[in-house]
Amino acid sequence: MISLRVGITISLLTLIFQESLTLRNVNLIIPEAAERGSLVEMKCLYELEGEVLYSVKWYRGDREFCRYSPRDVPPLKIFPIPGIEVQRDATGPERLTIVAAKSTTAEGRYTCEVSADSPSFQTAQVHAFMYVVDLPKSGPELHGIKLRYKAGMKLKAECISRDSLPAANLSFYVNNEPAHKQHVTHRVDGQTPDGLMTAYSTIQFVVQNHHFVEGRLRIRCTAIIYSVYIKTHEKSSIEVRIPTTPSSKLKDHDAVVYSIHRQPETNAGQQRRPAATTTIKILAVITLLSTALR
Ligand SMILES: *[C@@H]1O[C@H](CO)[C@@H](O)[C@H](O)[C@H]1NC(C)=O
Repeated sequence: MISLRVGITISLLTLIFQESLTLRNVNLIIPEAAERGSLVEMKCLYELEGEVLYSVKWYRGDREFCRYSPRDVPPLKIFPIPGIEVQRDATGPERLTIVAAKSTTAEGRYTCEVSADSPSFQTAQVHAFMYVVDLPKSGPELHGIKLRYKAGMKLKAECISRDSLPAANLSFYVNNEPAHKQHVTHRVDGQTPDGLMTAYSTIQFVVQNHHFVEGRLRIRCTAIIYSVYIKTHEKSSIEVRIPTTPSSKLKDHDAVVYSIHRQPETNAGQQRRPAATTTIKILAVITLLSTALR
């Protein structure tokens, strides 16, 4: 009964969609972020369901900057926005390629608007946001980590990701585990004339025995800018073991090892009297021999 009802509902929905929506599955596929100056391909995908395409319009914000209409000659029209360079050869009915030359104009909300021709003239819009970023020229730096640590020592390290826009998101990991929030502080500095930012993060904690995995303590810093940039820097320190047991205990321990390794000697100690007699016997032999030689 239930499956029959579901079946009826589905076919009813299909019927409604087929009747009222000819333009289907309109999808805008753009990267979440693009590096400034890079080539960016955007896809506007749709199903016409037998309709004829009238136009595909592209907007940045509210401003139309590109239109593809198959009936026009040429089909592609560009309405320039400074900082968005449309690549004519790589743009078509379902594809737009631009160079994101300027962050201020190329970053923002993009809209793809698809219209069907007469008689329906149906129109569908889809939006998506794209960031335009300046990536750091080098990966994150990691300073202040010592080669060796022992339990009880303070660890303080700084991670720096220089000159990007926006500032990179920095995260610390201790032996592959995210660092405790209360051990980490963040700071962003934007002093360069070109408006680039530098991100700083500091991690600080007292090293404990459990921080060592197979005698090593690994600190990693990861710099992330949206989904376009991820770089890490890792440093590994060696555990210095300090004797925590009192020295008297160490002696006991030594004594145990000693007695095991010198088992025959211990036996000799227990048989002191026979050993002594042997010595006397040898002495007697030597005395006898020396008198005989005389
Ligand atoms: C940094 O992380 C926050 C929180 O996850 C996120 O909203 C933001 O977009 C990230 N910024 C960058 C530059 O990746």
